[in-house]
Amino acid sequence: MPLVPMLQLLEEAAKKGYGVGAYNVNNMEQIQAIMQAARETQSPVIIQASRGALKYSNLIYLKKLMEAAVEENPDIPVAMHLDHGNSLETCKTAIALGFTSVMIDASLMGDGKTIASYEYNVETSRSVVEYAHARGVTVEAELGALGGIEDGHGAGLAADDTTHLTDPEQAVDFVQKTGCDCLALAIGTSHGAYKTLRYDKDGNPLPPRLALDRIEQIENNLEKAGYPNFPLVMHGSSSVPPELVEVVNKYGGQMKKSMGIPMQDIQFGIARGVRKINVDTDGRIAMTGAVRKLLWEKPEKFDPRDWLTPAREALYQVIKGKMIDFGTAGHAKDYAPMTLADMKKRYEKQTAGAR
Ligand code: G3H
Ligand code: 13P
Ligand code: ZN
Repeated sequence: MPLVPMLQLLEEAAKKGYGVGAYNVNNMEQIQAIMQAARETQSPVIIQASRGALKYSNLIYLKKLMEAAVEENPDIPVAMHLDHGNSLETCKTAIALGFTSVMIDASLMGDGKTIASYEYNVETSRSVVEYAHARGVTVEAELGALGGIEDGHGAGLAADDTTHLTDPEQAVDFVQKTGCDCLALAIGTSHGAYKTLRYDKDGNPLPPRLALDRIEQIENNLEKAGYPNFPLVMHGSSSVPPELVEVVNKYGGQMKKSMGIPMQDIQFGIARGVRKINVDTDGRIAMTGAVRKLLWEKPEKFDPRDWLTPAREALYQVIKGKMIDFGTAGHAKDYAPMTLADMKKRYEKQTAGAR
């Protein structure tokens, strides 16, 4: 099976009410672990690479590894997605490499830090949609800026400021003006292992405060505007399981106490239109714990395969669990895969119809 346009995975997920995990990769072991989990649970899957991953893998290695993953798993629908593209140029690079989906994150300026104006976001996202759709490639855009409700985001935001969250009214205007295929929401999640600043009186972390009600408002507003079942995307969705953090710390790590996004909050989102769920950190923690454990217990080992094998196994276990919890498991063979050429034709018809 060739790589599939991501939009097809999301639309099929919407029909049956499940979510598809988008898992970050940088190397062979991560791709193998995710594909093993997808194969064993019979799950469609989104594999995503950040700009950092593209740089780390010198582009071509990632492309060839993905080709191997698809060749080895002909029955699994796989979309290859650029995570947090910061410009049209970056998206063009990913599309040239064969990615079937790109994210343009123009909620921030090209430096990835400064909050951009709405106009800049619309114009930059629209230009990516125009380029990508002409090639059948899916586009994810983001409205609002990621960062916890408690911790603020970007310059000058107070701790309880909610102005960087996705505005449910503006979401409709944004989708209409950009033509994006799916929308990344800012509802209080943030990247990384430290998503909460809330602790109980004994110093135990409490879950991050999320604006989950916005998911339903945004989905309803989009439906009313003629976009039923519009796919929404949840970033920063790692749950940071304490048992994984414990392994890291037991074998010499020094991770702070933390708490991620509870699975029931993700499932709440899936029931209301979230179709793509981004996960990176949980896999990182699992792999690091496994490597630390192996090297701690067997300090005489120096063959990288001795520590990469348990790291790959630990990531596989984490991803397999998410495929089951997101409801993706069992859906790999529900539909015949589309090609980029099929999707390109569909976009052309839509554009002609809109004229
Ligand atoms: O967007 C955040 C992902 O976890 C990717 O992280 O930029 O360190 O590869 P990265
Ligand atoms: P986590 O850091 O919560 O895994 O989120 C990853 C992500 O959103 C990648 O875009
Ligand atoms: Zn993200």
